[in-house]
Amino acid sequence: MLSFNPLRINIPYLIDVIIVKDSEQIKKIDTSGAVDRLHVYETELLPWWVKRYFRSTKFHDDQRDLWFCPFEPTSNPSYHSRRAYFEEKVATSYSQEEVKKIAQLLRENASDEVLAHEMVQVVNKRFFGKEIPQEITETAKYTVQKMTEALLPWKYSKGVKSQQQLMEYCQHNLDPNVHILDVGHNIGEVVQATAGSLKVLKNNLDKPIAEIFTEYAPTPQVPRIAVKSSTFDGLLSSPTNPGKTVFIFKIAEAAAKTKDLNFTFSTGKAERACVFQDFFLSFMNDLQQELKAGS
Ligand code: HEM
Repeated sequence: MLSFNPLRINIPYLIDVIIVKDSEQIKKIDTSGAVDRLHVYETELLPWWVKRYFRSTKFHDDQRDLWFCPFEPTSNPSYHSRRAYFEEKVATSYSQEEVKKIAQLLRENASDEVLAHEMVQVVNKRFFGKEIPQEITETAKYTVQKMTEALLPWKYSKGVKSQQQLMEYCQHNLDPNVHILDVGHNIGEVVQATAGSLKVLKNNLDKPIAEIFTEYAPTPQVPRIAVKSSTFDGLLSSPTNPGKTVFIFKIAEAAAKTKDLNFTFSTGKAERACVFQDFFLSFMNDLQQELKAGS
């Protein structure tokens, strides 16, 4: 099949970004050893625009210098225990009462806010041991998602403020040994991605779950940074600059093309895939059955 070379935007001393959409190219680059997770470099050494953009998102806390788990290289000493903590928490799963409650809200055409708030409780109560307040699920909506949004000053400052508010809440309501950004991220993720997925599901009751969530993969893209100079066997016309060139892998587009869930929850491979994958797919499956039974 014909595939285009990645698109590179390289303005010397300002920005060097490479956008990759093709599934095979994503896999090749990600497994090359010439790229890694952003926080393989100390935050202050990262490109200026990376620092600026990510502080308005749910992925980074610039005041405490924390990054969400997938932004850490596997070599980071905290990585394995953080992943293990997630696995243990997610393994406690969900109840059929929770599935029924969400199904009921969908049948009643509940607002996005109400749906998001309820879904946050299903996923995140386990980390806090109590309900998450409305103002927190509300503020999580405003952390910046698209890079273009960060160019709008009011969206950017609202994103930064929301992220700080979320982090404050996590700091005061979690055990001191828990990574507050890892947990805080999941509130935003559920509000911004999972809740929307509920509506997609409702509109696709007769399609298999894997088909729905490869066609509508909730995470559009993931970043990597060059750690070695490479053209990836001629894929690029000039080599990457370690510590400067950032890759954006368009995984949702790759998922839609390949119909492979490994692109919905990772970069085409099971290794370091999303910890929430099995929970998400099983919850959506049960919810689909429940909605069908009641329709
Ligand atoms: C629809 C919802 C979600 C989608 C589509 C999704 C997707 C993804 C993707 C694509 C990655 C890989 C990132 C990368 O390679 O850079 C990832 C990693 C991860 N996700 Fe999710 N995610 C979702 C929700 C969640 C939630 C709610 C949690 C926590 C409860 C979570 C926890 C994680 C963790 C811990 C990782 C890092 C795994 C590792 O690097 O070993 N995700 N997720």
